[in-house]
Amino acid sequence: MKITVIGTGYVGLVSGVCFAELGNEVVCVDKIKAKIDSLNRGEVPIYEPGIEELIEKNTKEGRLSFSDNLTEPVENSEIIIIAVGTPPLPNGEADLQYVDQVARDIALAMNGYKIVMTKSTVPVGTNERIKGIISELTAHPFDVVSVPEFLREGSAIKDTLNPDRIIIGSDSPKAQEQITRLHQPLTDNIIITDIRSAEMIKYASNAFLATKISFINEIANICEKVGADVTKVAVGMGYDKRIGSSFLQAGIGYGGSCFPKDTGALIQIAGNVNYEFKLLKAVVDVNTDQRFNVIAKLKESLGDLKDRTIGIWGLAFKPNTDDIRDAPAIDIVEALVAAGARIRVYDPIAMPNFKRVVQHASIEWCDEPYEVATGCDAVCLLTEWDEFKNVDLIQAEALMKQPILIDGRNVFSKEQIEKTNFSYYSVGRPS
Ligand code: UGA
Repeated sequence: MKITVIGTGYVGLVSGVCFAELGNEVVCVDKIKAKIDSLNRGEVPIYEPGIEELIEKNTKEGRLSFSDNLTEPVENSEIIIIAVGTPPLPNGEADLQYVDQVARDIALAMNGYKIVMTKSTVPVGTNERIKGIISELTAHPFDVVSVPEFLREGSAIKDTLNPDRIIIGSDSPKAQEQITRLHQPLTDNIIITDIRSAEMIKYASNAFLATKISFINEIANICEKVGADVTKVAVGMGYDKRIGSSFLQAGIGYGGSCFPKDTGALIQIAGNVNYEFKLLKAVVDVNTDQRFNVIAKLKESLGDLKDRTIGIWGLAFKPNTDDIRDAPAIDIVEALVAAGARIRVYDPIAMPNFKRVVQHASIEWCDEPYEVATGCDAVCLLTEWDEFKNVDLIQAEALMKQPILIDGRNVFSKEQIEKTNFSYYSVGRPS
């Protein structure tokens, strides 16, 4: 099939590349010319394992190309995918200006029947709004279909090529049939719904996963007080198929560009129809508090943090990404700066992005984990990169002023710690 994907962020680029890999002819469009120029040079604007190779292969084989103008690609395509950003407005609501603009641009470029497939995460009712915008500007026939995206950063290609399910929200049998055919090579679990339910499935799924994380984090906080081990509790709970074992890793809370944004947006969506989503509000509050437990543990072990040297292992909101959007590390480093601490930080790839957001004279940027540890009163592990999991703790301890380790992701085992002199604080496990 011939497909145009509009927006070359995570969702757009990964979807475009994967649809090309399945044998479709795909043009990825972005209005930012510099982005298209660099993609044409083979430079990929996002960090995602495996994507560069797939881009190279599919461009070489002629199935994938890039353009900063959507007119010709839209004219030549049967399916147009909207994958532009829906960033949060100050009140948490999704900002739909980019979606609206793209809908207008598509309408003006149409030359016959098209299926407009929305992959951007959009509030319930948005696909109908897109339909309204397009039909005001063109007499050509079209259908709008909602196909929410469930990929995770860091495993985006794998998630897209092996999805748990594909949701197709549609009110047109013709579009349903074609979009089902497009996704058939990926999975047998194709679920057809009405458009509004498809839009809600995306928010409800992210909100539920965020709820699981905040739930296990609160259980962890209680475990610390009653002497239980949250990792064992999570394993025991996870064997119940109704609960499932995933997303029960206690830590310093969720971050990233999706859960914080989508939980905020769903609270707003509910608020707009006079429904207070009390449970989700609590999930968000718990998540914010969880980050600051790292600071509380540092104060418990060191007292006043003024002039203390604190090391930070990991800044990205999770491993295998350079994304620091809403990363717990931002709040934690800022709190340390405010407390008058000196901070030594290192992340395998997220440092350039972090530097753009947090800059302070008391932050020392290091090149590797042992350099961070040198002269520190305490080290905090905030992202569970393999590089940190493989640190020689005895070597790190020898470089520190005092051996205090705050493990925000429960990376190290009791056996590993017992070989050291570390005062060790993890999340929800006996210290
Ligand atoms: C999330 C969803 O998992 C995807 O299904 C969805 O498509 C995506 O949002 C989106 O809406 O676009 P992502 O934000 O890339 O994907 O990352 P996750 O792997 O879900 O992790 C999110 C955060 O939760 C991370 O900060 C991670 O450290 C934290 N987390 C995750 C935990 O603290 N504990 C867990 O058990 C799992």
